[in-house]
Amino acid sequence: MSIATENYVLANGVPIPKIGFGTWQMPDGEETYRAVLFALKNGYRHIDTARAYGNEPSVGRAIRDSGLPRDQIFVTTKLPAEVKDHDEALASFEATMQALNLDYIDLYLIHAPWPWDEKGADYRTENKAVWKALEKIYRGERCRAIGVSNFTVDDLTSLLEDSAITPMANQIRFFIGNTQEPITAFCQGRDILIEAYSPLATGAILQNKAVATIAEKYRTSVPQLCVRYALQRGTLPLPKSTHTERITQNADVDFAIEDADMRYLDGLQDTTK
Ligand code: A2P
Repeated sequence: MSIATENYVLANGVPIPKIGFGTWQMPDGEETYRAVLFALKNGYRHIDTARAYGNEPSVGRAIRDSGLPRDQIFVTTKLPAEVKDHDEALASFEATMQALNLDYIDLYLIHAPWPWDEKGADYRTENKAVWKALEKIYRGERCRAIGVSNFTVDDLTSLLEDSAITPMANQIRFFIGNTQEPITAFCQGRDILIEAYSPLATGAILQNKAVATIAEKYRTSVPQLCVRYALQRGTLPLPKSTHTERITQNADVDFAIEDADMRYLDGLQDTTK
């Protein structure tokens, strides 16, 4: 479990544990509470949630009940994609803090550049206003870093035109065969950490033969190969599971994929088939 306690360092100097525990599609309640608690008791030090997941109360309760000092856990949550107004963003942050019931959070992200039912719509002006709200929250010291999620090169270029603070992270869908090279290169060239959500393609990659062949070579599982691949690409994987043995397995990635195999994996496509 050692890698789960190693850190990247964000552009503002804040350390961030290299593997996060994802909680997307985990409903509020006992299952999520138990999964987060198990993850924390088994080496994870980074929990990723969102207001939109609806599970902030269970996540916050597990963090409080873990017995770990708060400053040893990195907590990320996200402003709902539908909130595209400065004052509403500030109000939504207050609701999140109440739901989590924590004194501060570590990373706060704009969940998407557009509301989910308007994917691709132009919210560049609104995103600039919302970003000002995140800058205000950051300066108020109730979150230690701020960033975005699902932003493309165009979305980020626009945001950077007017921002006083460059986002410290961009959380995107990233897995073998879906590495989103333009935005990944753009962010990695600007010290914006890429966080990889759905590093196992929400499970779809588990059936892929090409990936399985490489996993066999390293005597590891496909999920472990996927997590290791994301790390070796300099991204921060956020594997999600509600099963204890899988939660443990996904952070047990103390091996190295050789350069030639990385290049092979880089070239794979259609890995969800
Ligand atoms: P479950 O939560 O039932 O364990 P992603 O991290 O890309 O979102 O993928 C999550 C999906 O992959 C979930 O359906 C999860 O199922 C499954 N999963 C997570 N870890 C493993 C694992 N080690 N082995 C098999 N399936 C896994």
